[in-house]
Amino acid sequence: MCGIVGYVGSRQATPILIAGLRKLEYRGYDSAGVSVWNDGTSRVVRCRGKLQGLEDKLVKEPAPGMIGIGHTRWATHGRPSDENAHPHKAGSVSVIHNGIIENHMALRQELAAAGAKFSSETDTELFAHLIDRQMQAGAPDLTTAVRKALAKVTGAYAFVVMSDKEPGTLVAAKNSSPMVVGLGDGENFIASDVTAILAETRKMIFVDEGDLITVTKSSVTITDFDGKPRHREPKTITWSAVQAEKGGFKHYMLKEIHEQPRSVADTLVGRIDLENDTALLDGVDLDVSKIKRIIFIACGTSFHASLVGEHLVEALARIPVEVDLASEFRYRDPIVGPGDLVVAVSQSGETADTMSAVREAKGKGAMVLAISNVVESSIPRLADYAFYTHAGPEIGVASTKAFTTQLIAMALLAINLGRKNGKLSRERARVLLAALTALPQKMTDIVEQGAQLQVLARRYGAAKGFLFLGRGSQHPIALEGALKLKEISYIHAEGYAAGEMKHGPIALIDENLPVVVLVPRGPHYDKAASNLAEVRARQGKVLAIATRGDTEIGNIADDVIMVPDTALELQPVLTVLPLQLLAYYVADFKGNDVDQPRNLAKSVTVE
Ligand code: M6R
Repeated sequence: MCGIVGYVGSRQATPILIAGLRKLEYRGYDSAGVSVWNDGTSRVVRCRGKLQGLEDKLVKEPAPGMIGIGHTRWATHGRPSDENAHPHKAGSVSVIHNGIIENHMALRQELAAAGAKFSSETDTELFAHLIDRQMQAGAPDLTTAVRKALAKVTGAYAFVVMSDKEPGTLVAAKNSSPMVVGLGDGENFIASDVTAILAETRKMIFVDEGDLITVTKSSVTITDFDGKPRHREPKTITWSAVQAEKGGFKHYMLKEIHEQPRSVADTLVGRIDLENDTALLDGVDLDVSKIKRIIFIACGTSFHASLVGEHLVEALARIPVEVDLASEFRYRDPIVGPGDLVVAVSQSGETADTMSAVREAKGKGAMVLAISNVVESSIPRLADYAFYTHAGPEIGVASTKAFTTQLIAMALLAINLGRKNGKLSRERARVLLAALTALPQKMTDIVEQGAQLQVLARRYGAAKGFLFLGRGSQHPIALEGALKLKEISYIHAEGYAAGEMKHGPIALIDENLPVVVLVPRGPHYDKAASNLAEVRARQGKVLAIATRGDTEIGNIADDVIMVPDTALELQPVLTVLPLQLLAYYVADFKGNDVDQPRNLAKSVTVE
């Protein structure tokens, strides 16, 4: 997501900040800015677009000085623009921020009522106001002011703060977003990522949850948010610059698979309303009485997420749903119009086929909601409403964290609609909301089983083809598992509805065909287990994805990967993870270019 760099020392800060931000460019961003203190005040220079634009601006409006903060923003609250770019300044205080302030609406109201004037749409600016108020109210130092302001903020964040009233000090706080302090000789650095400051120092302190850090050019002091001292041992980084960009993982795809618990948690922030037992859609207020039908349109992995969305919306809101391939939609003169809510799902927000389908639907009078991972990308701008996933930039061509966050977005949509039209009871909604909140921990548990999947990838990776089977909402997961494997391992794979196997694909089965069967606990368990037995009876090799605690499945499958239990409707978020890892390890085992598989582009902007 966004990138953070801070510097305090005896050299000019701006070139160090820009060089650090350049190293974070690969993460994706839509605007950039710096705030540098000099001679009594800090100068903020910000620019929408690429870093080059900021550098050009800095030539005309130089920002000299030896203490500063820099940021690349990837929009979450407020569109990409000069005004919304960080740093945000209120009074004497400049702030950069990664993450999301969950209670931003309440804070904005409170600050506005107290007379604050805002110059952006961001949640970050609110934090600058909170600290400035503390400074004005006589906080003895910047650290105390930040501590008091933090007490008013909920959410996931990494902040770095600077004040004209205390030059020479940077104060940083971390809650769930990554942060590292780099130790130099008579100078120190702060960054969201090791990569940003690796050219300057290899001695780093990895900041932990709940750390409040005060950094000057000669000291680093760490406390918790209550002021109790904490000690962190510095580490010497031995990674190469390229390894550091990938967070120590071999490929971006593997890093992104491991990032999923975080990106799911980020996508849930501010969207669970426990008071009313419903889901919030960031102000998207759909009039459910006007929706007669929902049509999902999407391509590739987003299409598979939409198929899961069909199960979710039909189960929880009892609204009829259709799912269409965006690449086919407009070629059959679709019957669509008023009364239809078309949900266009696109990670990039730029897929040409999905964009054309949206135009077709809008042209025929349907209402369009975009679900996208990129704020202000073309599809959300074309749509009537937009709802964003917060997966952060996805670099690997094979989509992973974008997919699971799309599933979360669909679950939130289904809960919101179901609660509005009364088809989803308060009690069931409460159970689902609790299950959503518990997902990140369960996802961590699965992605940590990588070693087991690595062994299986070696065992099955030489096969010429794979079959993936699932029933109900596991059918789209079978399709997604097959797509992942095809895309990066170049092994032919088919995803099938398990019940369809006997209508054709059963002819493929012999001892050389690995069959991955999705059999989590639930209403389809017995039938899926019977399909599994049919495969085994024909000497097919079966890898089952089952629910932890299932003591039967080991007797009928060759290999089993267990996933934790969750609400039935949310099982796809967990069962897809072993399939992503399997595809990754098979491709890596074959020595393929995992992040940039042949013939594929990350964003398909041609029809
Ligand atoms: O950006 P989008 O979600 O619109 O992209 C759609 C597909 O091109 C994309 O999901 C593609 O299938 C990925 N390579 C899947 O891993």
